[in-house]
Amino acid sequence: MDTVRIFDTTLRDGEQSPGATLTQAEKIEIARHLESMGVDIIEAGFPISSDGDFESVRAIAGVVTKSTVCGLARSTAKDIDRAGEAVKHAKKPRIHVFCATSKIHREHKLRKGKEEIIRISVESIRQARGYTADVEFSPEDASRTELEFLEEIVHAAIEAGATTINLPDTVGYATPQSYGEMFAHIVRKLPVIADKGVVLSSHCHNDLGLAVANSLSAIQNGARQVECTINGIGERAGNAALEEIVMALRTRKDFYAIDTRIDATRIFPASRMVSMLTGLAVQRNKAIVGQNAFAHESGIHQDGMLKYRETYEIMDPVSVGIPATSLVLGKHSGRAALKARIVELGYHLTDEQIEGAFTRFKSLADKKKEVFDEDIEAIVDDQLETGVGLWTLVGLQVTAGSTAIPTAVVTLKDSNGEQIQDASVGDGPVDAIYSAIARLTGVRGNLTDYRVQSVTRGKEAQGEVHIELDHSGSKVRGRGLSTDILEASALAYLAAINRLRSLEHRQRTVTQHTGV
Ligand code: KIV
Ligand code: ZN
Repeated sequence: MDTVRIFDTTLRDGEQSPGATLTQAEKIEIARHLESMGVDIIEAGFPISSDGDFESVRAIAGVVTKSTVCGLARSTAKDIDRAGEAVKHAKKPRIHVFCATSKIHREHKLRKGKEEIIRISVESIRQARGYTADVEFSPEDASRTELEFLEEIVHAAIEAGATTINLPDTVGYATPQSYGEMFAHIVRKLPVIADKGVVLSSHCHNDLGLAVANSLSAIQNGARQVECTINGIGERAGNAALEEIVMALRTRKDFYAIDTRIDATRIFPASRMVSMLTGLAVQRNKAIVGQNAFAHESGIHQDGMLKYRETYEIMDPVSVGIPATSLVLGKHSGRAALKARIVELGYHLTDEQIEGAFTRFKSLADKKKEVFDEDIEAIVDDQLETGVGLWTLVGLQVTAGSTAIPTAVVTLKDSNGEQIQDASVGDGPVDAIYSAIARLTGVRGNLTDYRVQSVTRGKEAQGEVHIELDHSGSKVRGRGLSTDILEASALAYLAAINRLRSLEHRQRTVTQHTGV
């Protein structure tokens, strides 16, 4: 059967979701999981955008061997060099060059004419070919570009050496029919695509909720690469969701007669991993990976399911990696069993991190009779986060009640191992904790989101607190986990502050690199 390549951009376009910033360790973890699922190309980042992004792309290029590792670059010499440097040690390196082509972008963003846009694109593609033979070109906002100009620039890009041509629906404006027709038109007008074996690619944003439908239409009209993200995260309303495209093609092979190389049983763990690490919750009714995706509520449906599963279920949840039962370990389980389960869930931890996870697991298993996969994932994700910590929580004492003034005494350890303690009052116990932490760390952010959810079942379920903090315009998320919700709140706040500090430390802006 014919196949379409999966180009995953969770770590680049996905990370552009507001507040979804990932640390290098988290990006490597996700990249490894994507590779293990059979993703063909991983867009690991936009190397010129920050030193942190450059280092992450370089680190991923060093560990991923089966998937192609791609770095994004604008059509400028500095961008291409930075992307080339970042991917050069990858087993299969790719540079993805883009330049806006629509009238609105030409006139208002680039303030350049068509000829100049062709010239800088061609020069950039040639320069990128100096680093790798695998070069992708995207005429940004292709779906709003005049077809004649699109033909012209795509032709020039191929002649300059681009081996993949991506036609993005940058603002999610296309409809399935118009997007499909654009691909059909380009294929018809440019026989060079078939002659040179150039791969056409789709890249759809979800502003009208049409990203997946548009991607499928592109495939029907000749695209053999599809760009997408886990859980559909991305700029604004997000990108096309990888899991939906893969499962639409697989479930409706009878119709599309085309498949991907994705191991679908890795989809659900990937979804949980991305949601945990980015802090972006998956909506309950999200197709394929949402909590309700396979839940049957009505009596008629339940009756049908019991008689014959396929009456109401078009996919088997196990086929997308949803475990039939999630009860795995208990208080008598040893290190080896925990490590084996962590690996099955798709994580690669160092011995030191396994040790940390095991200590947390043991203390949790003492409090909880049943330890579920979700508990283990949460512990593991905590281990990944603590790797970047500058401050750690040592102790927390809170006084609250209907007649008491909420007061918190917080003890932290800083990166030099010194213990510091302070107390504060607040409007409520969480406010008192956050105010004490702000006094201790000197970082006072504006809390823009605070959510509590229980990770698993039972009265000793672990509570997970997600927060978003705005600090001088930088938005960061933090997650904390504990059977005590106040402790989880403190841990979430500290995680956000630690993340903010480590990002500030690593990042320099585009301006410093490009001088523009
Ligand atoms: O949406 C878009 O146009 C992009 C390009 C960089 C491909 O993300
Ligand atoms: Zn995009």
